[in-house]
Amino acid sequence: MIHGGLGPAAGFARGKHQERAALQRIAEDSFVFLRHHTALETVIHAVSLLEDDPLFNAGTGSKLQSDGVIRMTASVMDGARQRFAGVINIRDVKNPVQVAARLLEYDDRVLAGEEATAFARGQGFSAHNPETAARRTAYDEQHKGGTVGCVALDAAGRLAAATSTGGKGFEMPGRVSDSSTVAGNYANAVAAVSCTGIGEDIVNSALAARIVIRVTDGMTLDAASAAAVAELAAQRGEAGFIALDAQGHMQQAATHPYLAYATHDGRLRVF
Ligand code: GLY
Repeated sequence: MIHGGLGPAAGFARGKHQERAALQRIAEDSFVFLRHHTALETVIHAVSLLEDDPLFNAGTGSKLQSDGVIRMTASVMDGARQRFAGVINIRDVKNPVQVAARLLEYDDRVLAGEEATAFARGQGFSAHNPETAARRTAYDEQHKGGTVGCVALDAAGRLAAATSTGGKGFEMPGRVSDSSTVAGNYANAVAAVSCTGIGEDIVNSALAARIVIRVTDGMTLDAASAAAVAELAAQRGEAGFIALDAQGHMQQAATHPYLAYATHDGRLRVF
């Protein structure tokens, strides 16, 4: 399952077809990729493709912050090892999710700011300007929201989740996005969740971790998702998520329009 973010969904609602076509292509490509790769490799692959598409607010085409600078956030969680890694406010890299994935093999697994960028350079990730003309033009409009993500279950029954974002847009420099926290991206051997929306609302709800933990403790994915949506509504939170369990049950929900795609046995589902 992949998602293209809550914020740009206003565009989806107005009938923009480019984003739909891009999500369909990436969902289908990633499903083929999953046939010969692990869930972990697949979520990194899918989110890299989403980051590379300037239509989405992650990687190339990320939103600018209030000072006109792009700072990106991404994380990856290997459900099989229950291991999380992420980068916060990294700059000038093409694929933040790949830097996060590199950190999975380190003792220190979440890096922020200049040190995250320096780590990327040390790992051989070359400098890349993620700014597009469209995002610079939109800077003054101060649109908020938008993130990309993927959850996958592989043939061996392993789950993984990855999430990447340019942030809310127009945020205070130094603000930490939910997308590199367990609120925005979480997986274990039982379930995997990737969130989109306003990071502060997602953190307030501990959204991804809460859904996964409820399923781990015996709730069905459907019930855990419904409870999360009810709690978000009670807090007037703006968020959405895609969720998958080890039996292959899929769930998604959002408080505002967004677009998620899923493939199962090669059939494409659009939410
Ligand atoms: N969910 C993305 C952010 O608020 O940074």
